[in-house]
Amino acid sequence: MKIGVIGLGTVGFGVVEILTQQKERLEKAIQEEVTVKYGCALDEVTLPDGVIFTQDFQDVLNDEEVDVVVELIGGTTIAKKIIIEALKKGKHVVTANKALIAHHAQEIFQVAEDNHAKIYYEAAVGGGIPVVVPAKEDLIANEIEKIEGILNGTTNFILSLMETDNLDFQEALTIADGLGYVEADASLDLDGIDAAHKIYILAMNAFEIFFDFDKIQCTGIRQVTKKDIDYAKKLGYRIKLIAQAKKIDQGYGIDVSPTLVGIKDIVGNVNQAYNVVELTCNYLENVIFYGKGAGRYVTASAVVSDIMKTHQPTMWKHQYQYVENIYPITYSQYYIRCDHPLDIDYEMYFSQDHDHIYITNPLELSQLQQQLSGETYSLLKVRG
Ligand code: HSE
Repeated sequence: MKIGVIGLGTVGFGVVEILTQQKERLEKAIQEEVTVKYGCALDEVTLPDGVIFTQDFQDVLNDEEVDVVVELIGGTTIAKKIIIEALKKGKHVVTANKALIAHHAQEIFQVAEDNHAKIYYEAAVGGGIPVVVPAKEDLIANEIEKIEGILNGTTNFILSLMETDNLDFQEALTIADGLGYVEADASLDLDGIDAAHKIYILAMNAFEIFFDFDKIQCTGIRQVTKKDIDYAKKLGYRIKLIAQAKKIDQGYGIDVSPTLVGIKDIVGNVNQAYNVVELTCNYLENVIFYGKGAGRYVTASAVVSDIMKTHQPTMWKHQYQYVENIYPITYSQYYIRCDHPLDIDYEMYFSQDHDHIYITNPLELSQLQQQLSGETYSLLKVRG
């Protein structure tokens, strides 16, 4: 196996390091030589002996010896061009590029199939946590009915900090940013877009569907207040940015929204920058994947494992069905805060200072909105 790593940032350099440090063990595992032939980046980087540095990705793509291209530059323009060209040349591709897969999976997978090349992207979801391939291969006996997860470490860190250190959103964001957690485009994290990319990938594989990414209704955490975090806690909940996908009568329900999760639930105890994915299956019932969702070696671990898989037999086919019917999941319990009492059915209620807090019984959002028409209130989903 001869590998070209394109993109030598945090993760890319970590991949080269692991492949070099673990060379002997990896070769023993797959019974063939594992060589990093190229490292490609715009800025010069000192690479281990024997690895050729280039600033031109065409050097990697045009080398017939390279049979695995690792794309770690991110973005959806040059990265897409690199991946498509590599696949067209019959090279296998490994990427951590969640946005690219979420927006262009159908086109990219078709090129892979047409050219008998493989594409793996485990590191795109949950960093190092093995979940994409296990959901596909190790759970193949099962139909996956529901996916729920905390898929963005940055927002989970911010929400955790707001609770533990009694901070408001802006203060916690400043700390997260100082620690280097927040993406260059902060909106990807804060507005739930990054989590939406990841739930797209999980839903696509679990339900064997392609759909338009823009159909995922996505609400981030900017509106979550310290006050709501405290009130939720009094009721036995934590507020988490939950990405969810499940089959519903009309098609598929897929969305990302700040949600109250029971403090006694495993998902409710996933704090700091950790990620979790809970799958509900017909035979295995519930299975939970938990671990670190970002970081150099964490993410590189998943990339290296994907690189090894390109030279192993696979049971993957990327022939998924395109579906139109993607909706937000609106049948739920809801948390409501209002400055006066409301005439609604509820499971829990209390009042404090000038606030009236409700956890409703499960109902359709449209029905609740109708009952509350003309009122001013804050509303969050509650995980059932
Ligand atoms: N911004 C992402 C997160 C990085 O916070 O989870 C890992 O995908």
